[in-house]
Amino acid sequence: MADLFSPYKLAEVELKNRIVMSPMCTYSCTTRDGVAKRWHHIHYGARASGQVGMIVVEATAVSPEGRISPVDLGLWDDKHIAGMQELAETIKSEGSVAAIQLGHAGRKAGVPDAVGPSAVAFNERTQVPREMTVEDIEETILSFSQAARRAKTAGFDVIELHGAHGYLINQFLSPLANKRTDSYGGTLENRYRLLNQVIQQVKQHWSGPLMVRLSVEEYHQDGNHPGDYVTIAQWLKQQGVDLADCSSGGVAQARIKPFPGYQVPYAEKLRRETGIATGAVGLITSPLQAEEIVANHRAELVFLGRELLRNPNWPLYAARELGVKIKVPDQYQAGWPTVNAD
Ligand SMILES: Cc1cc2nc3c(=O)[nH]c(=O)nc-3n(C[C@H](O)[C@H](O)[C@H](O)COP(=O)(O)O)c2cc1C
Repeated sequence: MADLFSPYKLAEVELKNRIVMSPMCTYSCTTRDGVAKRWHHIHYGARASGQVGMIVVEATAVSPEGRISPVDLGLWDDKHIAGMQELAETIKSEGSVAAIQLGHAGRKAGVPDAVGPSAVAFNERTQVPREMTVEDIEETILSFSQAARRAKTAGFDVIELHGAHGYLINQFLSPLANKRTDSYGGTLENRYRLLNQVIQQVKQHWSGPLMVRLSVEEYHQDGNHPGDYVTIAQWLKQQGVDLADCSSGGVAQARIKPFPGYQVPYAEKLRRETGIATGAVGLITSPLQAEEIVANHRAELVFLGRELLRNPNWPLYAARELGVKIKVPDQYQAGWPTVNAD
């Protein structure tokens, strides 16, 4: 039995294997109101029938001004619950765990009136955000917790907070975007305050598994580096966060040359040095590569992004390549005679 296909318990929720669909915006809310569309059901449903262990639904905005684009999914209003409920049911009906990523784009918003920790733009082509007042911050923290309440009502099993890629939470964490002189800026502890309070508030409404996505390397000499994120991961663990999903970049403009598994060392470092469970992501494409990461305890879970855009049935191919028998959906058994466990 390959370790990639061993079950994993994320707090009380069991995944049938270690394969996770990484959150990926599909920019498909054509009505621009954040409401899920037929497309979302087809897209996530296909990966669920492809036997992905957990599906993380794309960055979903906790407030309209926090959208990455006007066509993002949203959970900023109760009107979003019905569509999300159907989506969670679709995912779960094929045996996948349904997770959702809650986010706020801050200064990287693709809609007008961007806000951020400080009035510093990401680059010359993006908006200069309005510096958030303490009232704005408190309102945003409440938006996260209200979105978590709605995700729970909709039946999601797991929540991921988007703390990476230079979006709002990451902007607060990073000295590159956060120039505040109040209790939300300055020291690492102060810059962590927003995330700390978001977690505390979310936990008022959410007792299920909680993951946080981090940009463990910011690719700028004045930014945060893996050592800073070891400290942050310790705080996350103390706050009862169940998994750190280890990505990188997006706060500073940086040219990097990604290679297979380039971010795995971040997942490995945080896991080894803090004991927090981690997810590895980034150019993980082959079954043997994924198996190696799990078997060598470099991360508990592997998150696949673009490979699952190419191939929704990747877990079935991986099972075949690793010589593992798994449950194949009845309707597809004729196509996978050597993989089916029945
Ligand atoms: C089209 C697209 C949309 C993405 N949207 C998100 C997102 O909503 N949230 C997020 O945390 N990462 C997002 N990402 C990053 C992926 O989750 C993943 O971390 C990245 O693609 C690297 O993994 P891969 O090499 O397996 O694709 C996106 C990536 C792509 C290609």
